[in-house]
Amino acid sequence: MTIPLVDLTAQYSQIKSDVGDAISRVLEAGQYVLGEEVSAFEEEFASYCGARHGVAVNSGTSALHLALLAAAVGPGDEVVTVPFTFVATVAAIRYTGARPVFVDIDPESFTMNIDRVEAAITSRTKAVLPVHLYGQPADMDPLLDIARHYGLTVIEDAAQAHGAEYRGRRVGGIGDLGCFSFYPGKNLGAYGEGGIVVTNNSEYAAAIRMLRNWGQAGKYHHAVKGYNYRMDAIQGAILRVKLPHLQAWNDSRRLHAARYDELLAGERLLTPHQMSYARHVYHIYAIRTPARETLQRALQSRGIQTGIHYPIPVHLQQAHTDLGYRRGDFRCSEEAAGEVLSLPMFAELTCDQQQCVAEAIRVSQPSLTIH
Ligand SMILES: Cc1ncc(COP(=O)(O)O)c(C=O)c1O
Repeated sequence: MTIPLVDLTAQYSQIKSDVGDAISRVLEAGQYVLGEEVSAFEEEFASYCGARHGVAVNSGTSALHLALLAAAVGPGDEVVTVPFTFVATVAAIRYTGARPVFVDIDPESFTMNIDRVEAAITSRTKAVLPVHLYGQPADMDPLLDIARHYGLTVIEDAAQAHGAEYRGRRVGGIGDLGCFSFYPGKNLGAYGEGGIVVTNNSEYAAAIRMLRNWGQAGKYHHAVKGYNYRMDAIQGAILRVKLPHLQAWNDSRRLHAARYDELLAGERLLTPHQMSYARHVYHIYAIRTPARETLQRALQSRGIQTGIHYPIPVHLQQAHTDLGYRRGDFRCSEEAAGEVLSLPMFAELTCDQQQCVAEAIRVSQPSLTIH
């Protein structure tokens, strides 16, 4: 049996006819970029997050970029974030000309270590950008307290955390701005690229609306230098079909995570820890083992696909060496990058598949050399 890391076709087969109808509706209406489908999705998704406004864009990276610009982040400013994330978090900060300033992660939650944030704040700090990595929210309350104290904007990178909750509140609407990706493999994925910014602040929403569409105040009247970051109508219509299923899909992921926790108890590895404040949505189920490479090879030989999210923390990526960070600067991020292994996780994963993964891990354990 081959077990994929993510199986997108299993989900498609369940919603195929609704997706087909939605695509036909768009093709027949003749409005292919933004338009009614996208506006309706913006309202539905913002309301799902408990936020007043949603502005849909063409990727999660664009969402982050425009959220930062709306917060007036630019050259000479600093933005506090984590190095253990997908590179887009940091790239978006750099697009604005601002400098990313890293703080390490907390090794239990894999999210920003809030105790380290104050030491990273300077007179140039404009914003903090926590990442709800793997579907687990960062510890938002103490972070918001720090941000209010220093007058900083809080931008949530919720690209991996659609529907995750922090103390009973859905992420995205907790900070000043929340950014999501709809890349196909995400908990809520388009059939192509997509993203959205949600916010309770109408000025931010208006600024982002203008920036995503060439900075236009009216047709061919360009009030600010903008971008072509618009969402396609087909993606908006598809996301409207999928959104009502998100809660059930997340519930399935949580059940699978609990089953993995049980099946893997007693093995020489660490399973993910859901923080007491969190409703984790397990975009990624990452175990930790110092024998990661050996285990990955053993699973591959049995047809089980795994992933590594992410093998190199951003402060050590070649593209960002000019920031001047070195190995040893963020020990928890570096250790996590050396040990995490993502197991197959998607809503349609079956018990049999999970048992097969657990069995393959169990039989591989005696041969694992910890290095
Ligand atoms: C944490 C994080 N931030 C940002 C992004 C960027 O989203 P996109 O790929 O839609 O541009 C991703 C996507 O993979 C992500 O995982």
